[in-house]
Amino acid sequence: MIVLGIETSCDDTAIGILEIKKQKFKVLANLVSSQVKLHAKYGGVWPYLAKREHKKNLPIVFKKALKKAKNPKIDLISVTVGPGLEPCLWEGINFAKNLAKKLKIPLVGINHLEAHLLINFLKRKEKNIFPAIGLIVSGGHTQLILMRKFLKYKLLGETRDDAAGECLDKVARLLGLSYPGGPKIEKLASKFKGKKKHKISLPRPMIHQKNYDFSFAGLKTAVLYDLRKRKEKEKELLSFKREMAREVQQAIIDVLLKKTLNAAKNFRAKSIILGGGVVANKELRKQFLKAWKGKIFFPKKELCTDNGLMVALAGYFHQKEATKKYEKIEAKPNSRI
Ligand code: KG4
Ligand code: ZN
Repeated sequence: MIVLGIETSCDDTAIGILEIKKQKFKVLANLVSSQVKLHAKYGGVWPYLAKREHKKNLPIVFKKALKKAKNPKIDLISVTVGPGLEPCLWEGINFAKNLAKKLKIPLVGINHLEAHLLINFLKRKEKNIFPAIGLIVSGGHTQLILMRKFLKYKLLGETRDDAAGECLDKVARLLGLSYPGGPKIEKLASKFKGKKKHKISLPRPMIHQKNYDFSFAGLKTAVLYDLRKRKEKEKELLSFKREMAREVQQAIIDVLLKKTLNAAKNFRAKSIILGGGVVANKELRKQFLKAWKGKIFFPKKELCTDNGLMVALAGYFHQKEATKKYEKIEAKPNSRI
């Protein structure tokens, strides 16, 4: 069976093609056309600009993916229906519908957040992993999820304001770094020399609260206040930027780790499953691995950020919900896992 996955929920136009033979997965293509350069100019993503780019890029990425996969016969199309930017979601959905109609094959709508978690099962098929705690950390979401069974989710908590990735993006902007900020903060932080010359100290919001919610807006504000008290000269120093990057990255990791471990302990989890763009962060992965002795899943780096393969794989797992009544598939910009 061959599944084609389409992802356009935000600023990446992505298509993945997955072959499933005797329950074994083979990646035939996984292409992402990023709009980073375009949006970097504005410091964030503009939905209608992104939609226009998806429209332009979808046929190009599709053609390239088909060529890479050597023109396979597609059996199922899987497309992200939410959450995400509504105009962008519709662009992907309409492309998927037209293609499915043309090929006379079924279509399945996929939740983007679920796909971020499910991509972990591309390579690993262990038994005895549930109950599991899922942690999704992306540019738009920070959620802790209880998974008692495969494909069964219960939201335990989420951010009350900014997502972790959003916080990194905003802090990066305050430091004069371009969008997306996460990878740039990671790079700067990795060069921090280990001595806190500038004595930067940021809060760990909600870390001691016994719930599973998060809040990262205050962390960004704390960075803003710190910057306001510094002299222009100090703010420009590389040693200052490195220390700030390390401190904000560590503040986020501390909170994510503490809340995830609390949930894992309280629900007697056998595993922790991580997904979303921020999970690409090496330091985060290292610290989770060190702190948690049970099973832990995280996707390889390029599968943490948005991609079409995760949508294809989620589509395979949800193939029972696929339909040829294409009009049933609609954008759900605020859908939850
Ligand atoms: O999952 P994703 O690609 O898109 C959404 O669904 O939002 O996540 C994008 C987010 C951005 O905020 C970006 O700054 C962050 O993931 N990110 C990282 C890294 N790579 C991407 N954050 C920290 N370290 C990274 N290496
Ligand atoms: Zn995402």
